[in-house]
Amino acid sequence: MSQTSKRLGKFIVLEGIDGAGKSTHIDFIAETIRAAHGVQVLITREPGGTPLAEKIRELVLHQAMDVQTEVLLVAAARRDHVRQLIGPALERGDWVLCDRFVDSTRAYQGGGGGVDLGWIDGINREVSGPLEPDRVILFDLPSQIAAARRGGRGGHGDRFEAQDVAYFERVRDVYLTQMRPGAQEKTSILNAELDVSRIQMELQKIIINI
Ligand SMILES: Nc1ncnc2c1ncn2[C@@H]1O[C@H](COP(=O)(O)OP(=O)(O)O)[C@@H](O)[C@H]1O
Ligand SMILES: [Mg+2]
Repeated sequence: MSQTSKRLGKFIVLEGIDGAGKSTHIDFIAETIRAAHGVQVLITREPGGTPLAEKIRELVLHQAMDVQTEVLLVAAARRDHVRQLIGPALERGDWVLCDRFVDSTRAYQGGGGGVDLGWIDGINREVSGPLEPDRVILFDLPSQIAAARRGGRGGHGDRFEAQDVAYFERVRDVYLTQMRPGAQEKTSILNAELDVSRIQMELQKIIINI
């Protein structure tokens, strides 16, 4: 994709199971990037980020479907997101901060749902191949604690939040032990059990070094 070959900005991705703390910290991360690197930061999310991809998000989060269909719908949303929003922002020199990206598909549909990781990786390469995150910040938390935190967050939840602790342990396991080739050195694993202020200190160190 041409728009990703001319990129000037950096692409930062937040990952982790539901309830790990991504939404809690995303504005702090954006502010810290602005302050440390003097750039504009676009905050976005997956699935979603464009009008079309947000419609697909509603379907994937709330409509029962087979797990391979989930992969294909998320991939369609990602293609639109990369072409319409992420690629052009990086070309302008803005940084993009994205709540979830390709590693979520591997962890949820692959680890949680049992879809072959090689098949998912192939689709991801087709859809967003040249666009690699510069840094993935993985909020790591035991599934039991994440479930308790989700309970405290309120709201009705979605199809994924309704999954049991065993599902989220499989998701977590793919995040931690079955990373994409090449992802290891780009991934910063955060202990999300720490309190918010300690996590912010860790985030500051990570961001200054990007
Ligand atoms: N470090 C923390 N310690 C205690 N509670 C936290 C911490 N980080 C987040 N929470 C709480 O946990 C819940 C889930 O956090 P959230 O940021 O929504 O997770 P995510 O976006 O990763 O699904 C929220 O109610 C939030 O206030
Ligand atoms: Mg969130």
